[in-house]
Amino acid sequence: MTGVAADLINSGGRGLGLNMAQALAEVGVRGIAIMDVQQELGDKAARELSEQTGVDVRFYRVDVRDGPGIGQTVRDIVDHYGALDVLVNAAGIAE
Ligand SMILES: NC(=O)c1ccc[n+]([C@@H]2O[C@H](COP(=O)([O-])OP(=O)(O)OC[C@H]3O[C@@H](n4cnc5c(N)ncnc54)[C@H](O)[C@@H]3O)[C@@H](O)[C@H]2O)c1
Repeated sequence: MTGVAADLINSGGRGLGLNMAQALAEVGVRGIAIMDVQQELGDKAARELSEQTGVDVRFYRVDVRDGPGIGQTVRDIVDHYGALDVLVNAAGIAE
């Protein structure tokens, strides 16, 4: 998938979000921004996915219920990657 500058995944620390991040990395996106409320989980997911695939994967800790926080995070992501092309919403708790 060339031409995709960055994908924003919430919440990609684990579960469906992480699975989608892995799939996007495998098809060749240039960058992936993972958002999750859990710092350690997100740091680990971004580090491992980057090491496994060579894709520029970054983690941004934010709660999806925090509107201003989401706005700032999106600005930070666009500052780093230059654009945002795909958004995956996967935040939630699977019981
Ligand atoms: N797994 C499935 O097959 C499936 C099927 C249908 C629907 N769902 C729904 O999809 C959602 C995600 O499922 P999953 O299996 O990935 O769950 P999961 O519990 O494995 O992962 C959810 C992730 O969301 C994060 N998160 C939770 N609340 C957040 C918040 N307020 N802000 C930021 N991050 C937050 C968690 O930290 C976690 O990393 C759930 O609501 C689930 O009910 C899942």
